[in-house]
Amino acid sequence: MKVLVTGSSGLIGSEAVEHFDRQGHEVVGVDNNMRRVFFGPAGDTLWNLERLKGVTKRFTHAALDIRDRTAIEELFRTQRFDLIVHCAAQPSHDKAREIPLLDFEVNALGTVNLLEATRQHSPEAVFVFLSTNKVYGDAPNEIPLKELEKRYDYARAERFESGGGSCRARVWALLQHEGGNLSRRMLDGALALGSGAARLFVVSGEGDA
Ligand SMILES: NC(=O)c1ccc[n+]([C@@H]2O[C@H](COP(=O)([O-])OP(=O)(O)OC[C@H]3O[C@@H](n4cnc5c(N)ncnc54)[C@H](O)[C@@H]3O)[C@@H](O)[C@H]2O)c1
Repeated sequence: MKVLVTGSSGLIGSEAVEHFDRQGHEVVGVDNNMRRVFFGPAGDTLWNLERLKGVTKRFTHAALDIRDRTAIEELFRTQRFDLIVHCAAQPSHDKAREIPLLDFEVNALGTVNLLEATRQHSPEAVFVFLSTNKVYGDAPNEIPLKELEKRYDYARAERFESGGGSCRARVWALLQHEGGNLSRRMLDGALALGSGAARLFVVSGEGDA
């Protein structure tokens, strides 16, 4: 399988790269280190790119900007992907208030560029979009949960498992995670859904810049 991971040097993208490389898939990463533009030197992700190059076997990297429609189109025209894991983003809600236009260009326009390139060139591909639980406002805080040894689970699981409306709930369920396994579990789960948007809660791990 050929996998495209955008935001491949970031926290979640780098986990995705390692995950699929370990499974023997060919992984193409797209990341232009724009996190450094957003957050200054402390946000530089080049160290993580170098780390990935060292630990992976079939990973290649392209320093493309997802806002660059021509470059993204060219990437998709020359390579056919089976799976797109879209993690490239301006991820900070506070920062979005400071730079609304840039935030919109990266998060909205960049995503549309990828969706359209997928539609044009890899229409059979699974597209996984790493979104945020913030789109639900405070609603997730109202879900009754119970604390298990390593993770939280639904206090009333039956409310989220039945019927066709379970997609959102299943993604939420995947986010009640065990330690550092969140991204891997979430990716496996999202793939089982076919295509979808995972609305992540707070994630942290070794790849955090
Ligand atoms: N980490 C969390 O706790 C969390 C929680 C909720 C949602 N999310 C969502 O998950 C997604 C990934 O988050 P993350 O924590 O891995 O973020 P991250 O900042 O660690 O990684 C994002 C990567 O995208 C790259 N990037 C930014 N703009 C780009 C562009 N124009 N072109 C190419 N690459 C670009 C950055 O350089 C960075 O390496 C985001 O959509 C975020 O909102 C994350």
